[in-house]
Amino acid sequence: MSNPLDKLVGEKKVIAVVCNQWGDTGKGKMVDWLASDWAEFVVRGTGGGNAGHTMRVGDLVHIGHTVPCGILNPDVYNLIGRGVVFDPRGVLEELLELEGKGIDYKKLRIAHNAKLILPQHLVMDRAKEASAGKDKIGTTGRGIGPAYTDHYARIGLTVNDMLNPDIFRQKLKRNLRDKKTLLEKVDREALRTIMQHEHLGRGIFFDWRNIFDEDAITERYVQYGERIREFIIDADALVRNVLCQGRRILLEGAQGHLLSIDYGSYPFVTSSDPSVEGLAKGAGLHEKDVELVLGVVKAPYMTRVGEGPFPTELGGKESARWCASHTKEDEEMEYPDASGDSGNEFEQGVAVRFRGAEYGATTKRPRRTGCLDLPLLRYAMQTNGPDVALTKLQVFDGVPAIKICKSYTYNGPDYFFAGKTLRRGNILDVAPNDVHVMEHCTPNYQVLEGWDEETQDIKSYGDLPKQVRKLVDFIEKETGAKARVLSMGPERSQTIVR
Ligand code: IMO
Ligand code: MG
Repeated sequence: MSNPLDKLVGEKKVIAVVCNQWGDTGKGKMVDWLASDWAEFVVRGTGGGNAGHTMRVGDLVHIGHTVPCGILNPDVYNLIGRGVVFDPRGVLEELLELEGKGIDYKKLRIAHNAKLILPQHLVMDRAKEASAGKDKIGTTGRGIGPAYTDHYARIGLTVNDMLNPDIFRQKLKRNLRDKKTLLEKVDREALRTIMQHEHLGRGIFFDWRNIFDEDAITERYVQYGERIREFIIDADALVRNVLCQGRRILLEGAQGHLLSIDYGSYPFVTSSDPSVEGLAKGAGLHEKDVELVLGVVKAPYMTRVGEGPFPTELGGKESARWCASHTKEDEEMEYPDASGDSGNEFEQGVAVRFRGAEYGATTKRPRRTGCLDLPLLRYAMQTNGPDVALTKLQVFDGVPAIKICKSYTYNGPDYFFAGKTLRRGNILDVAPNDVHVMEHCTPNYQVLEGWDEETQDIKSYGDLPKQVRKLVDFIEKETGAKARVLSMGPERSQTIVR
C-alpha cells in the first residue's frame, strides 16, 4: 500500500506549516509527523521561547519552545533560522531536557544571525506588562517584543556576538544605554524582584547602581556561546544550498496568523509575522519557494491566550477575565463537573478546556475557548492559502450540537473603516483587521449535529462518522478551504490524509 503521506506531499520539496488561528493548534504534532516520514530539514523562522509545541510519540511527551519539532527524529537537520529571537538560557534548558530523554540533537543548527534575547528584554517585557493595567497584552514574558524592537531599532545583538566577547560588550553597552534611562523611573526594588526570576539568573544580572551588571551579562553570554559554538552556522547559506539540491525542507511556523504583527489583531499580537511570508523570510527562503502551505486550524473550536478580541468566546468577557487570573487547579476545584451540555456558555468553555487540555504549554495559563470562527479563517486564508489541516476534532466526540460562526453582525457605533462607514446591523463575512470593529462583532451561528462515536483511532476519511464529514464539508464550502489533513489525536498515526 502506498504511504498516505504521498498523496499530500507528492514531489514537493518545500512545505510550510503555519497556524491560521491564535496559536496552539497542533503545529508541533504536524511538524513531527512530517519530519518522521518526509522532511530532511526542519527550519524555524519566527518567534522564540513564546512558542509551546507539544509532541507525543508513544510514552514520550515533549514540548519544544525554540528548538524545532523535527528534533525527535535524529536523522533530520533542525535549524533555528535567522528570524528567530534566541534565548540561549531557554535553549540550553531544552537541550538538557532532550538529553534527559535520551534524544540525540547532533543535527541541530543555529543561525549565526538569529536575534539574541538578553536579560534586559525579559525585564522590559515584564516591567511593561506589570505597569500596563488594562492595556496589557498578556505576553508570555519571554522578552519577545523587546528583542524584536531592538532589532528594528538597529541596536540588537545576534547569536554570533556571543562568540566575540569584545564586540559583545560594546554592543551590549550601546543596547543598554536607552533602557537604563527608561528604567531609572521604575522602582529599583521592583526591578530587583523581577530580576530574581529563574529565567534571569536569580538576580546575577542585577546591579543596584546601574540596574544591569554588564560584566555579569557578558560573562554569562560568552559562556553560553561556548556551549553552543558547534551548532552555530550560516543557516541562510545552508538553506539556499539544500534548496538548490532539491532536498526536502519543512518550515515550522510558530504562534498564529491572528497574532501576526502585520496581520493580527494589533496591538494584541506578538512581535513577529508568523504568516507564511514571515516564516519563509525568517527561515532564509522566499515565500515563492514554498510549494505547499498547510494552515493548521483547530476545529470545531478555537482558543486564545492573552488579551484581545475573541468574538466567539464561550462565556465572553467573563471567560477572558477568568482565564487571565486563574490556574488549571482553580478551575478543577471550582467547576469539577463542567460539561458541554450545560446551558451556561462559560461552563461549556471550561468543559472544552478540560476535554482539549487547553492550558498553555509555555505559561500554563488556561486558554480562552470559543467556537470555530469562519470569518477569521477566511481572513487568514487570504495570506496563507486554501490548504488546511484540521486538528483536535476528537475533542468534540460526544458533544451533541456544534456551533460554528458563519458571519458577524456589527453592533457598534458608526465607525469609519477603510473608506466606508460601518453601521449597526452590517453583516461581515471576512473578519476585519481592526480591534475596534472586532470588539463589536456578534457572531451568527450555524448549528451542526454532533457525533457520539470515538474518532481517535479511525484511519480513513470514509470511516469517520457522517457528522464529522458534514462538518468538514461545511467548513470547505463556506470558506473555500481544502482540508488536506485531519488530525484525530496527538500521535503521528492519528492522522488522516485526504
Ligand atoms: P505557539 O507557537 C498562543 C500570545 C501571548 C500574547 C501575545 C504576545 O505555541 O502557537 P509574546 O510573548 O509573543 O509577546 O505575547 O501572543 N502568544 C501565543 N499564544 N500560542 C503561541 O505560540 C503564542 N506565542 C505568543 O499569549 O497574547
Ligand atoms: Mg502552543
